[in-house]
Amino acid sequence: MIPFQCKTACAALVVTSAAVAHEGASGIVAQRMEAMSEFGDITQYIGDMYKGRHAMDRDTIGDAARLYIQHGEMIPMQFPDTVHSRTSGNTEALDAIWDRRQEFEASAADFVDRSRELLAAYERGAEPDELQPLFYTVARGCRECHDDFRAEQD
Ligand code: HEC
Repeated sequence: MIPFQCKTACAALVVTSAAVAHEGASGIVAQRMEAMSEFGDITQYIGDMYKGRHAMDRDTIGDAARLYIQHGEMIPMQFPDTVHSRTSGNTEALDAIWDRRQEFEASAADFVDRSRELLAAYERGAEPDELQPLFYTVARGCRECHDDFRAEQD
């Protein structure tokens, strides 16, 4: 009983902030929404950095690359084929994720590969100008997956 209670309580803690933003979603669905929201925030920030809206800071790009790899590797596990995963809350996950599983996982793996290239360039000291095309290649990976596997947003 105790491990189960802990699991429930701990999960509740982890998803608190996501639950606010993602009303109705719970468990793994809320967790993946939260991870994707973090992707959204940092990607937007870096995009704005390249547009001159924030001071340029190459370490933010390194941090983003690490986050992309870390969360990117978890994507296949965050979309289990369960009723909850397919339908919880206001999920935007399309059935294609499960109907074309290999493609979905390949898309996630490709995204992680691109992120590794970005991180490698950051770690060898590449300047923001040189990182820019690599960053946009990663960002294109977000869009490519969303085009096939995420419902259109309003
Ligand atoms: C391999 C597929 C895949 C990749 C790569 C991917 N996403 Fe997503 N993303 C999804 C899916 C599927 C959803 C819908 C999840 C849901 O609603 O359950 C989603 C949802 C989102 C959301 C909405 C989260 C919310 O508030 O509910 C944002 C924002 C987002 N992604 C940003 C990004 C960004 C930015 C990147 C790249 C840095 C990225 N995603 C990469 C598949 C992907």
